[in-house]
Amino acid sequence: MKLWGGRFTKETNELVNNFNASISYDQKFYKQDIQGSIAHATMLAASGIISEDEGKQIVDGLNGILSDIESGKMEITDEYEDIHTFMEATLIERIGDVGKKLHTGRSRNDQVALDMRLYTRDEIKNVDEEIKELMSVILRIIKENTETYMPGFTHLQKAQPVTVAHHFSAYFEMFKRDRSRLSDIYKRMNYCPLGAGALAGTTYPLDREMTAKLLDFYGPTLNSMDSVSDRDYLIEFLSALSTIMMHLSRFSEEICIWNSNEYKFIDLDDAFSTGSSIMPQKKNPDIAELVRGKTGRVYGALISLLTTMKGLPLAYNKDMQEDKEFTFDAIDTVKGCVRLFKGMIDTMKFNNDRMEDSAKKGFTNATDAADYLVKKGVPFRDAHGIVGQLVLMCLDKGIALDDLNLEEYKSISPVFEEDIYEAISLKTCVEKRLTLGAPGPEMMNKVIALYDEYMEQ
Ligand code: ARG
Repeated sequence: MKLWGGRFTKETNELVNNFNASISYDQKFYKQDIQGSIAHATMLAASGIISEDEGKQIVDGLNGILSDIESGKMEITDEYEDIHTFMEATLIERIGDVGKKLHTGRSRNDQVALDMRLYTRDEIKNVDEEIKELMSVILRIIKENTETYMPGFTHLQKAQPVTVAHHFSAYFEMFKRDRSRLSDIYKRMNYCPLGAGALAGTTYPLDREMTAKLLDFYGPTLNSMDSVSDRDYLIEFLSALSTIMMHLSRFSEEICIWNSNEYKFIDLDDAFSTGSSIMPQKKNPDIAELVRGKTGRVYGALISLLTTMKGLPLAYNKDMQEDKEFTFDAIDTVKGCVRLFKGMIDTMKFNNDRMEDSAKKGFTNATDAADYLVKKGVPFRDAHGIVGQLVLMCLDKGIALDDLNLEEYKSISPVFEEDIYEAISLKTCVEKRLTLGAPGPEMMNKVIALYDEYMEQ
C-alpha cells in the first residue's frame, strides 16, 4: 500500500520501491510514531477538527497496535515504504475509514521530524544514564586509590608521580563534560515540530501548544520550514557521542598500555579478556581495543550526516532519510561500549608495587629533588642542572635517585643533606602537591566530596 498513489498512472519500478523504502530501519521508532499520532489525534478531537468519538476510535486503535507489537502478536513487515505508512495502513485495516482521518493537517515530513526527535530525546537520557553508571565505577576506583602511586606521563615518558585516583579523576572530569553536553543538547532540541505540515503549516486550526505539551516538549518550534528540515540536534548528538568515544578510546589505549607485558600496571579480569587461537600464553585486551576501534564508526556517523546535510535547500529533501541508520548505529555502539568498558574496569586489578616501582625508577621525583635545592637557596636553573647530573649518575649505575648515598649527592652539590631522602620519597612528592586539582590526597579528598555531591544530583 502507498499513501500517494492518486496522481500516478504507472506502478513504481521494483528497484525504486526498495531504494526508497526506510521501513527496515525506521521501524525502530514505532513506539514514538504511535506516541506522536496519539497526541495528534487527541489534539484534532480537542480542536473540533475531528469528532470526540473519531478521536477516541483512533487513539484506541493506535494503542491496540502498540500492545500487539509489544506482545509480539503483530510483526512490522517490509512491504510498506516506511513506518508511517505501515501504521496508517494498519490503523485503517483495523478501525476502517475513521483511520483515514488521522493524517489530517499532518505530513510525513513533520511526522518523521517528530519521531526522530522523540527517539533521540529518549536516547540522550539512556546514554546519559550509562555514562553515569560508568562514572560511579570510576569514583569507586578513585576512592580506593588515593595513595596508590604511579608515574604520570607526558610524551608517554615518565614525568612526575601521581596516584591512580588522580589519573582516574581526569576521566571523571571528561565524562562530566560529556554529560553536560548531552544536557545542553536536550535543552536546545526539546521543541515540538508537529504541526509544521509538509513545510508551511496547515490551514486547520491545529493547537500546536497542546501537542507540544502532550508530548512533554518545552513548546512548539517557531518556523515550519526549519521544523521539517532541522537535523542540527542529530549532528550535535553525534558530535557529543563522538567525543564520548574519543574519551573512551584514550582510556582504552591506556588500558592496553598498562596491560602490556612491559608495563603490567593492571591485570584485566579473565571474563573481560580474550585468548589467541594459536598462542596459548596470550590474554588480550580485546574489549579495550574494540572500543578504541569502534570510535571510527561513530565519527563516521557524524561526518556522514554533516555531509548529507551540506548544501540541502529548504525545506524537506529525501536526503534526510539518511539521518537514521548511522545515528541508530552510533547510539547503540556508544551504549554498548560504555557498558562493556564499565565492566572491564570494574573487574580489573591494579599491580600497586609495579606502578610504584615504575614511578621510582622513572625519576618522576627529579623535579622534587630540584625543588629541594631551591628551598635551600639554589636558583632553579642551577638546581635543574645539578639534578640532571645526578640522573646521569643513576643511569650509569642503573639505580633510582632514592638509591644514591649522601656522599654521591654531595659530590655534585654540598647543599644536599640527609633530609633529601624524605623530600623525594614518592609519598612526599604526592602529598606535597596540594594545589586544587593536584594529586595530593588532602586535595583529592576535597574533590571526591564534590564528586559525591555531583553523583547525587
Ligand atoms: N521516510 C522518510 C524519511 O525518513 C519520511 C518522510 C517522507 N517524506 C516525503 N516527503 N517523502 O525522511
